[in-house]
Amino acid sequence: MDGGGERWSAVADEWSELWGTFARPAWAPLLEHAGVGPGTRVIDVGCGSGELLAHLTALAARAAGVDPAPAMRAHARERAPVADVRAGDVESLPFEDASADVVVAVNALQLADDVLDALAEVSRVLVPGGAVAVATWAESARNDLDVVERAVAAAHGDDVRPDGELRQPGGLEFALAESGFDVVAAGLAPTPWRASDDDRLVRGILFGEDPDVMAELAPVVLEAARPFRDPDGGYVLRNAFRWAVGRRPG
Ligand SMILES: C[S@@+](CC[C@H](N)C(=O)[O-])C[C@H]1O[C@@H](n2cnc3c(N)ncnc32)[C@H](O)[C@@H]1O
Repeated sequence: MDGGGERWSAVADEWSELWGTFARPAWAPLLEHAGVGPGTRVIDVGCGSGELLAHLTALAARAAGVDPAPAMRAHARERAPVADVRAGDVESLPFEDASADVVVAVNALQLADDVLDALAEVSRVLVPGGAVAVATWAESARNDLDVVERAVAAAHGDDVRPDGELRQPGGLEFALAESGFDVVAAGLAPTPWRASDDDRLVRGILFGEDPDVMAELAPVVLEAARPFRDPDGGYVLRNAFRWAVGRRPG
């Protein structure tokens, strides 16, 4: 198993509990523009804990999921028992050529070692005329999460990484076009993340950290998130995803 799979397996429970549905507002435009309906053969790449897979099976799509992390796949199989969940990653999809009508990747394409290689692999498994539907974080200025993560990075003495190209306006469309897809739709979706109390906020931001690091950084998280408190004592971080849908020519 690759390092990415191990890392994500270690945090699968927290992901499922705290983050699994927050990208849901991006699902509707992706699935609508990709034309997903009953019987559509859909592969969810980087399916994580399976929330979108469960939604796809509820729509009567023929849903398959791929993820390198065993613990994520276990959650996905439990949540979407009808779906065909396989081990793999976007660079090497365990599917035949031209076997899918739609490939969807939510909050996952940016994890590929090489985005253009990944999109070439997506193209391989799509039928001619099939759709790729991708969503990822918008630029940091649109994401309260980045405010908190920057505070954590500063406290840790880490450099703040600049936004990657996919996060920029037009970044997804450019990558799809470079990979030979015809871009048919693109947009922004608000993807707020809610934490009902301090504990869930800290665990949601610092998941994967050692307990001692978590204890050290918890006050930093709480201070940085203070502007995002809601009147109930919880927190709402206003975030946004960019999404785009492309079609394989032919
Ligand atoms: C941020 S989570 C998103 C999960 C899910 N798509 C969602 O929206 O909740 C990223 C997922 O991508 C998986 N992943 C990591 N590297 C990957 C790769 N190279 N190809 C495909 N999936 C990958 C991780 O194991 C993890 O389950």
